[in-house]
Amino acid sequence: VSSLKGRDFLTLTEYTREELWFMLETAMQLKQRYLSGERVIPILHGRHLAMIFEKPSTRTRLSFETAMKELGGDAIYLSSSELQLARGETIEDTARVLSRYVDGIMARVYEHYKIEKLAEYASVPVINGLSDLHHPAQALSDVLTIIEKKGRDISRLKIVFVGDGGDNVLHSLMLAVGILGGKVIIASPNGYEPHPSVVKLFNEYAAPNGGSYEILRDPYQAVENADVVYTDVWVSMGQDKERERRIRDLEPYRVTVELMRKAKSDAIFMHCLPAHRGEEVVNEVIDGKWSVVWDQAENRKHAQKAILALLIP
Ligand code: CP
Ligand code: NVA
Repeated sequence: VSSLKGRDFLTLTEYTREELWFMLETAMQLKQRYLSGERVIPILHGRHLAMIFEKPSTRTRLSFETAMKELGGDAIYLSSSELQLARGETIEDTARVLSRYVDGIMARVYEHYKIEKLAEYASVPVINGLSDLHHPAQALSDVLTIIEKKGRDISRLKIVFVGDGGDNVLHSLMLAVGILGGKVIIASPNGYEPHPSVVKLFNEYAAPNGGSYEILRDPYQAVENADVVYTDVWVSMGQDKERERRIRDLEPYRVTVELMRKAKSDAIFMHCLPAHRGEEVVNEVIDGKWSVVWDQAENRKHAQKAILALLIP
């Protein structure tokens, strides 16, 4: 794998299977070194990351900020409402100016085109910290968790996502698993399918590697013998107006103990968090023997470190 320095991280499809494995290996090494007591590995000494948030965040902000600091650099939290962006300065001009101050930009935005525009006009790497369509940093961390818990042979695993088939976290999970040659089964109601632009990316970048996905309507059928059961909120940030319809349509897709009992006895339950307990998942599952959600949250930091260490010049 040649150097990844200077590259953007917007959808994951910018990277080959080999490059994604290289990122995962790097994350595992950085995690091991951290856990064996090497708290600071100052390879980004003196580097700064600007972090723009149009939406709230707990994990993404904390994982990128601590990762940057533990790599010897620093991170600057910028709420988009406090930037001149809020008064009409363009994304293009913001990207050009930030590039004169910092070595990388991470952004969490509503419309995906905004992160693309930032990347187009910035001269430093731009990292997607969630858009309405993608959450690639989450997906890298999720694959790290899956291989830690279930081994590296992703193509042999039955990975099932239950709930909103048009969810940004699912989109990135299916692209990541697909590029690595695996399959994701999606249990979702009619009208909740992956976004056409994601399907297009999947066909172009994941299918040639042997990646596939399948949509089923019956969650019980989908979860049968699963190794991994994943869900996310039914109402994502920005979808509050659709709340009532979404809750009604997604009600049959709640991850319950009965549903988990259909999966393999050693199946893991995953959720990117934050969870809406009692909606997409019940307490007995997220707090139960299947749940790996806290390890998953921890892995955000280790995976984010790998992205920063590899991409920031
Ligand atoms: N999973 C995730 O991105 O969490 P935050 O919204 O707290 O960053
Ligand atoms: N799908 C959720 C993920 C939050 C991390 C959202 O976009 O709100």
